[in-house]
Amino acid sequence: MRSTFFYALLISSLCPRVTPHPSNRTIDDQFGDSVTGLKPDFWSSPYIGPWDTQSLGCKQIVAGGFTVEDCPLALDATQAFMGTYSSTTRYAYQGPLGISMQFTGTAIYVFFTLVDDTNLINPTSANFLVDDELLGTFTQPNETDVRYKALVFYQTGLPNTLHKLNISNIYNVSTYLNFDYAIYTVIIDDISVAIDDVNLAIGDVSVTIDDFSVTIDDVGVID
Ligand SMILES: *[C@@H]1O[C@H](CO)[C@@H](O)[C@H](O)[C@H]1NC(C)=O
Ligand SMILES: *[C@@H]1O[C@H](CO)[C@@H](O)[C@H](O)[C@H]1NC(C)=O
Ligand SMILES: *[C@@H]1O[C@H](CO)[C@@H](O)[C@H](O)[C@H]1NC(C)=O
Ligand SMILES: *[C@@H]1O[C@H](CO)[C@@H](O)[C@H](O)[C@H]1NC(C)=O
Repeated sequence: MRSTFFYALLISSLCPRVTPHPSNRTIDDQFGDSVTGLKPDFWSSPYIGPWDTQSLGCKQIVAGGFTVEDCPLALDATQAFMGTYSSTTRYAYQGPLGISMQFTGTAIYVFFTLVDDTNLINPTSANFLVDDELLGTFTQPNETDVRYKALVFYQTGLPNTLHKLNISNIYNVSTYLNFDYAIYTVIIDDISVAIDDVNLAIGDVSVTIDDFSVTIDDVGVID
């Protein structure tokens, strides 16, 4: 028996390409990270009471030995990112408070809701620490209107690694803080495989099979 096959396949330049590109993700005050779901941590000294959200009305809080009625400003939540915000008022005699969150990426942008002077309890002010280093301070200018999604801090040019952002009140200043959301930029590697130049060549390959035989001995049937 003799058969002959002819084939050859030659693939030249199979090139995987890695294209890094920046992509923005968000961290909402209540829904958290748009990809990991991780929520920010609203931290405060015990003398301040819990943070308010867009859906809370007045509540009784015990602060510095006094029971006070805390009525958060009613803002238009529909203008806030994802319809939510978290706010608090901190008087100079109370302890520290703030918001911390983590992100992996090269840039971070923080958005607050700023309240106009007629509503104002305390102007907004905050320190912004990235990886425990103070990289920015925001002090509210006079506002004539409520400003939603106001950019209060950003930092670009960070290494594309895990970072911690810690927003805190300024030590001895009374403040109103209203955190809406943050954006961070992550670098994603797109891997694509491009197949250039596929050549299919048919040449002289031959296989010869001589003396092909099969012998079956001792086949038994069991009944
Ligand atoms: C990410 O968001 C910031 C702030 O809005 C913007 O300046 C930047 O261009 C955005 N980057 C990308 C890659 O979309
Ligand atoms: C802000 O408003 C206060 C009180 O109305 C005023 O005394 C101050 O000069 C204003 N500051 C600026 C920068 O306009
Ligand atoms: C944020 O800063 C405050 C005040 O400096 C500190 O007590 C707290 O531990 C910090 N949180 C994180 C997660 O670094
Ligand atoms: C807060 O403390 C800083 C530094 O100690 C001081 O310069 C500033 O005047 C103080 N501000 C207030 C409002 O007490």
